[in-house]
Amino acid sequence: MRGLTESNLTDAVVSQVKADNPRLQQLMESFIRHLHSFVREVEPTEAEWWAAIQFLTKTGHTCTDERQEFILFSDMLGVTSLVDFINHRFSEGVTETTVTGPFHRVSNIEYENGANIANGPEWERGEHTLVRGRVLDLTGQPIAGAKVDIWQSDDLGFYDVQDGEQPEINLRGLFTTDENGAYWFRTVKPSSYPVPTDGPVGKMLEAIGRHPMRPAHIHCMVAAPGFKRLVTHVYVEGDEYLASDSAFAVKESLVVDFVKNGSAEDAARYGFPGPFYEIEFDFVMQPA
Ligand code: BEZ
Ligand code: FE
Repeated sequence: MRGLTESNLTDAVVSQVKADNPRLQQLMESFIRHLHSFVREVEPTEAEWWAAIQFLTKTGHTCTDERQEFILFSDMLGVTSLVDFINHRFSEGVTETTVTGPFHRVSNIEYENGANIANGPEWERGEHTLVRGRVLDLTGQPIAGAKVDIWQSDDLGFYDVQDGEQPEINLRGLFTTDENGAYWFRTVKPSSYPVPTDGPVGKMLEAIGRHPMRPAHIHCMVAAPGFKRLVTHVYVEGDEYLASDSAFAVKESLVVDFVKNGSAEDAARYGFPGPFYEIEFDFVMQPA
């Protein structure tokens, strides 16, 4: 390529993109233009550019089979949430989606409704909670046989995969809705927690004056034939990090009051040793 100048360089690079796949062509042209605009705007020194390359290199080196630092980078910049918004423009009335996060396990334990998913020390010290609701279509009809896949942190903010104190599989389970579209299970109230901060993304958060906390939540993935899979969270109303979630993944419709139930009769009916919290959350599914 001859006659390159600072001002014609971007067009020169874009002109060399000749992908067979039109979508790849669009993506790469746009990526190059935006990247060049960023560099033109901030005019990095060579030392700054090298620091950026080192950050990305460390981010890659931090990834393992169990840890995905690039997804965390995307989460912390709000990109995962933006991709979620763009890809789930569902009909009015459908439950809002949010990010999956890194702690889902593809194969989960199948439980009967009413089961207790807290099998570790959190059951002794945590706040007992009943979660229940229904899976519905847009007309309010129940969807029987829907799969409700649940995972959450314990009362101290740790997932089983992060914590040697918990059983290997804990605070997660797969439920199936009954003929009324209902699901219900026992657990402990989750806690807010920090995203992993011991890697380059944690250092970036610190350098730009941000905290790493996510508000307390329960993750849910709901699937039923004929409907789009729904991935979302249920958040605990009153959590101090609802307004500053480090993953930018809170949607108002997903914030739920955990209400204390002191009835001894209800406790006995659901198998709690004493007073417990209860929440009710229905999932409304988007037709496929
Ligand atoms: C989570 O909720 O599990 C999560 C989401 C984004 C980043 C880290 C954790
Ligand atoms: Fe989470």
